[in-house]
Amino acid sequence: MAKVVVVGLGYVGLTTAVGLAQLGHTVLGIDLSNERVQALKNGIIPIHEPGLAEEFTSQVIARRILVSESYDEITSDIEFAFVCVSTPSSPSGQADLSYIESSTASLRSRLEPGSVLVMKSTVPIGTCRKVSAELTPFGINVASNPEFLSEGNALKDFFSPSRIVVGAEKKEIAESVLGLYAGIQAPQLICDLASAEAIKHASNALLSVRLSFVNELAAVCEKMGADISKVTEGMGLDPRIGNNFLNPGPGWGGSCFPKDSVELARSASDVGARMLTVEAAILSNTATKQRVAAIAKELLGDNPNLKTVAIWGLAFKANTDDIRESPAVQIASTLSETGARIVAFDPVVKSVPNKEFFVATSPIDACDGADLLVVLTEWDEFKSIDPAEVREVMRGNAAVYDARGMLNRTSWMANFRRYEEIGQPTSDSFGH
Ligand code: UDX
Repeated sequence: MAKVVVVGLGYVGLTTAVGLAQLGHTVLGIDLSNERVQALKNGIIPIHEPGLAEEFTSQVIARRILVSESYDEITSDIEFAFVCVSTPSSPSGQADLSYIESSTASLRSRLEPGSVLVMKSTVPIGTCRKVSAELTPFGINVASNPEFLSEGNALKDFFSPSRIVVGAEKKEIAESVLGLYAGIQAPQLICDLASAEAIKHASNALLSVRLSFVNELAAVCEKMGADISKVTEGMGLDPRIGNNFLNPGPGWGGSCFPKDSVELARSASDVGARMLTVEAAILSNTATKQRVAAIAKELLGDNPNLKTVAIWGLAFKANTDDIRESPAVQIASTLSETGARIVAFDPVVKSVPNKEFFVATSPIDACDGADLLVVLTEWDEFKSIDPAEVREVMRGNAAVYDARGMLNRTSWMANFRRYEEIGQPTSDSFGH
């Protein structure tokens, strides 16, 4: 078993620390936020990730995880240092690498020759080569080990990943990192540093292109009188397409897709190899959010300032509390700008900074007195709500817009004369 340090105890770092500890390694977790470290020492983790808090606590009790806010806790027997710090997008779309630079510099002066800095943060293609040039003179090796964790499933994804990718300049370094994951059954790929970085960006960017395609196809189905759920079901029967990741929605968001697709498009353009498909997907995603907001406004009708809109869902997707780049928050804000009163319910997100939304304690409460209900995040619990109960509390000529295509259309249409669903024929569809 190895002695590992994990720098950055956010959603990726914490999952990595807990996963490696569960595999039997000894992990020192470092985060510069004193507040976060104190909370962790009290067993409180800063993210909503099913099962992670419990597992973190049991690994601390088993003394396989220690957390600290100081790099001085790094001992000379540390063999691997995972860098899991954030690389936020700057306004230009360029990834801000300041945390990468500071954590790498702090590790450089503390890691022994022969140890391995493992880059797990998502970094622009070419970053690890630069870090390696900095650290090789100190005898420190560098590997790229991108994460493929999806929020709400992080711990599960750690233990049953679709693949483990490790890039390094020397094969034996890559193999030493793969050795940490012994016991995890998954396809393994060893490659060079730049290819490992590219796999992460390209995977997310291609998934973004796929979703932008589906969201545009949903608009076509509405106009042409087709049913997007049948269309994607039929498409998914082609094994080259597959039936995952084909659900239309109000746009894609989160801390990864928007950042990684913009970063890849920018990097590609910088080297004179523009990725027009990715650029188009980014523009398309913005257009989808605007289209969904426009349909909601249309349903709200005149004098929106005298009306109330109920919003179901604020997180960028179900099973997370993350509102970063959340289409739900962006669309709710657009509706708020009409002067309408916005009452939102999300099972986990209980407040949205600097937004004048009212947050209800239940989905039904959010609909009390509302003129329009818009479903924006695919939380399972919304599926089982009785539309008759919703009908009772909403205003007379109330409308419902299911922007996730997740409600039971038959029972909702039996209760609401005005009911629209993404990707379904609308009243002015061709032939309707
Ligand atoms: C993503 C990648 O899936 C993961 O491999 C990577 O490591 C991190 O980025 P995540 O950001 O957690 O994970 O979200 P994901 O589940 O991929 O969804 C991204 C966006 O696409 C969300 O806004 C989600 O609502 C949307 N989505 C997803 C759809 O609109 N339809 C779908 O069918 C699937």
